[in-house]
Amino acid sequence: MREPGEGLGNVWVIGASSGIGEHFARLIDGEAARVAISARSGDKLEKIRSETQSLVPFPVDVTSADAMAEVAGAIETQFGSIDLAVICSGLWKVMPADQLDLASMHAAMDVNFFGAVNLVNAVVPGMKARRRGHIVIVASVAGYRGLPQAAAYGPTKAALMNFAETLKIDLEPFGIDVSIVNPGFVDTPMTRQNRFAMPGMISADQAARSMLAGIRRRKFAILFPWLFANTVRLANLVPNPLFFWGIRRMLRR
Ligand SMILES: NC(=O)c1ccc[n+]([C@@H]2O[C@H](COP(=O)([O-])OP(=O)(O)OC[C@H]3O[C@@H](n4cnc5c(N)ncnc54)[C@H](OP(=O)(O)O)[C@@H]3O)[C@@H](O)[C@H]2O)c1
Repeated sequence: MREPGEGLGNVWVIGASSGIGEHFARLIDGEAARVAISARSGDKLEKIRSETQSLVPFPVDVTSADAMAEVAGAIETQFGSIDLAVICSGLWKVMPADQLDLASMHAAMDVNFFGAVNLVNAVVPGMKARRRGHIVIVASVAGYRGLPQAAAYGPTKAALMNFAETLKIDLEPFGIDVSIVNPGFVDTPMTRQNRFAMPGMISADQAARSMLAGIRRRKFAILFPWLFANTVRLANLVPNPLFFWGIRRMLRR
């Protein structure tokens, strides 16, 4: 296990073609030893490479376990190791529970949840052999409780939170750190489609900086912006009648 404050080492950022992942990769450019950047859009990754010092594209679709393992192997061969793996890939779609679109629900689970599973499957063997590594999974405050119109998205993030707790417990003996990142609203292409109020919205650059600060401290749960994210987290402790009353009030029903 690395000590807090130690260097980042070789980093793999997934979901690095836009939003939080892109800003995070750009932020650590020149600071981490080497940085591999992944997403499906090879053209966007190439553009980012041309604008940065040390970011190396490895296009991949996170829904393919084989492709993820292959890319992890290629990065380890080229860099020597993956010390920090950060998965920011994700899909969000408004989905009211009376209009379930099953294909989109499966796609959300495949990308948001199984993408992280495929990452863990790909990097743990190497990290375990080196007895060193840090896996960072970006979930969302939307995973704390069921929220309106989030039938496709919320469950994927709740699953990630539970998965990360098991990872932390089971991987600690092998010197592998695990973090779960739960952002509130962040201004990225993902949220620009939303037509509802997004309180406490922060920029993708602020989000990347908060994430990096938490990663450096090896925090398990990294939440930001602090007030909004912790208020939503507290909703976890609120009794169900009060929670549903609050949601009805918010929706003015
Ligand atoms: N923005 C927010 O307010 C907010 C709040 C809470 C949590 N989050 C979470 O933060 C993470 C980043 O979101 P963002 O806002 O930065 O969104 P974004 O700008 O839409 O970025 C999503 C990234 O995921 C990649 N991606 C999507 N499907 C993929 C696949 N099958 N394989 C590989 N990469 C894939 C996209 O690249 P390609 O399309 O090129 O593959 C892109 O790089 C997500 O997990 C999201 O759920 C965001």
